[in-house]
Amino acid sequence: MSNQQLHQLKIRCPACDTGRLRMTPETALSAQCDHCQASFPLAQGFLDLRPDSSQHRTFSQKLMEWEPLVNRYEGRWWRSGIFAAWLFGISFREEQSLIFQLADLQGDKRVLDLACGPGTYTLPFARQLPEGCVAGLDLSVPMLVKGATKIREAAIGNVLFLHGNAEHLPFPDDEFHHVNCCGALHLFADLPRALKEIHRVLKPGGRMTATACRNWFPAGFAQTLAASHHRHFGVRLFRARNLESHLRQAGFRKVRWHHKKRYWMVLSARKVAGLAIDEKEIPEQGGWQAEKLSPLGSGNHNPRRVA
Ligand SMILES: C[S@@+](CC[C@H](N)C(=O)[O-])C[C@H]1O[C@@H](n2cnc3c(N)ncnc32)[C@H](O)[C@@H]1O
Ligand SMILES: [Zn+2]
Repeated sequence: MSNQQLHQLKIRCPACDTGRLRMTPETALSAQCDHCQASFPLAQGFLDLRPDSSQHRTFSQKLMEWEPLVNRYEGRWWRSGIFAAWLFGISFREEQSLIFQLADLQGDKRVLDLACGPGTYTLPFARQLPEGCVAGLDLSVPMLVKGATKIREAAIGNVLFLHGNAEHLPFPDDEFHHVNCCGALHLFADLPRALKEIHRVLKPGGRMTATACRNWFPAGFAQTLAASHHRHFGVRLFRARNLESHLRQAGFRKVRWHHKKRYWMVLSARKVAGLAIDEKEIPEQGGWQAEKLSPLGSGNHNPRRVA
């Protein structure tokens, strides 16, 4: 964690939301706020920002802290196995290659892998960006310990794991070129707040990539099932339109669906820079959507695509 790039990552103090946490060689085992002096331990390979432990955790969030599950999470019986591949309509390998194609990152970019779990995406992003750096944030300590062990064994230096909550991100505005959030949007207790946070920390023009649980049951029954799933397990099942509406309310535009099959969806959305959105959207073939964009306050409604 002494890597130069990591010191370029700005971490906002979660205690005062004002100061910046500094990890100097003298305080290698902790990070301290330069404003309120609050100190946060850097042990077991992650920076512990001590997310509010009094806050209610859903059944699924508690499950993600259960070591037997954490130890098997990436194995053949779940994330990389044929059962998950069938349930999601896409193999993990295909999903990963789609996410990396969409992220399309090179050079010294900064990436946030939100709800990183055991570093499933954090490590490949770090390997792809040797001059950049990757922050992996998660609520589950056992998941972070697993990820930290993997980066230590692989001698990867440009990753910082953080114990925190997606609903209160410890970064200043516009900090990341890209945010990846795979397998977790459906688990966030306060989804609108988490999406606003993702939008806030993303640079204008930056993209978020995500995978999430899809409601693929017929309407009617689907409503009951989705509601009970959410109530009992804390897992949302999204209809694409519903998730898109959450994303748009958080400020995202150019919402794209790259995979929608059975229980799973792969999507991307952008934080659009300095442009007003003409709310009319033109459906394209294959469920993709285009947006009409016009420069702020220009009154010019000529369709214009933003990269
Ligand atoms: C299914 S795992 C996904 C791990 C990895 N991103 C992947 O694609 O395989 C979901 C992760 O979301 C984390 N999580 C759930 N709620 C969270 C929250 N509010 N803030 C941060 N992480 C959260 C869990 O601890 C768990 O590690
Ligand atoms: Zn502070």
